[in-house]
Amino acid sequence: MNIIKLNATESTNTYLKNLAREKNIPDKTIVVTDNQIQGRGQRENSWYSTSEGSLTFSIFKRFDNLAADNHFKISMAISIAVVRIMKEIGVDQTCLKWPNDIMSGNKKLGGILVENSLWRNTIKSTVIGIGININIESFPNLPQAGSIRISTGKTFDKDDLFQKLVEECLFQLNRVEQRSFSEWKEIYEKHLFRINQVSVFEESKTSTRFSGIIRGISMDGQLLIEKKDGIRKQVGVKELRLLF
Ligand code: BTN
Repeated sequence: MNIIKLNATESTNTYLKNLAREKNIPDKTIVVTDNQIQGRGQRENSWYSTSEGSLTFSIFKRFDNLAADNHFKISMAISIAVVRIMKEIGVDQTCLKWPNDIMSGNKKLGGILVENSLWRNTIKSTVIGIGININIESFPNLPQAGSIRISTGKTFDKDDLFQKLVEECLFQLNRVEQRSFSEWKEIYEKHLFRINQVSVFEESKTSTRFSGIIRGISMDGQLLIEKKDGIRKQVGVKELRLLF
C-alpha cells in the first residue's frame, strides 16, 4: 500500500487519475487530504467537505480480468466495505441507497465515485473516491445530509477511521474478481435502502412522478423497480431519482 497525504487538492480522484496517467503507480495507491477544494460527486454534482469533519480519499486499483459489463461489482464491493465499518462503529440503520450512497436511516453519510479505465471491454484499473461525513454537526443547506457524529452523538478520530476503511476496502477489492456478480448482488441487496417498500420516484427527463417497489438490482447494476401493474423495469442512474 502506498499512501500519499496531500495538504490540499482540488479532488483526490482527479489527482490520482492524473498521477496514474503520468506514471506507472503501484497498485493500491491511496490519496488522502483534509482539504478537498472541489470535490466531485456522481452525476456531475459537487461534494461538500470540511477539513475537520470529513474524510476524503481515493484508491487506485488494477484488475487482471474484470469485464466492463461487471463494472458494478466495484461499487458493490466498496459500498459493502463502508457499510461494514459503519455498522462496526455503531452507526444506526446503515444501508446503501442505490447505486452507492451510504445512508444512516434516510440521511446520506457518505458517497462513492468510481472512475474506471477501460481497454477494449475490460476494466484495467479504477480510481474509487470515498467521501464520508464524520464529525460535521450540521448541514444548513443540505437537508438530506447526515454524519456519523449526528447519527451516533460521538466524535470519531479521523485517522483511525481512515485506517479501518482502507483496510476493509482493500480486503473487499481483492475479492472483486473472485466473487461472481450474483454473489456480490446477494450481499449488496441485503443492505439496499427501501428494498421491498413502496417508494416514489421522479423521471429525470419529464419530472413525472410514479410509485413503485425496489426489488433489487439487475445483472448490469441497474435498479429494478416493480410498478403498480406488477411489471418490472430496469433503470439507469441518470434516468430517475428516488424521492421518498
Ligand atoms: C456522491 O455521492 O455523489 C459521490 C461522492 C464522492 C466524493 C468523494 S470525496 C473523495 C473523492 N474525490 C472526489 O472529488 N470525490 C470523491
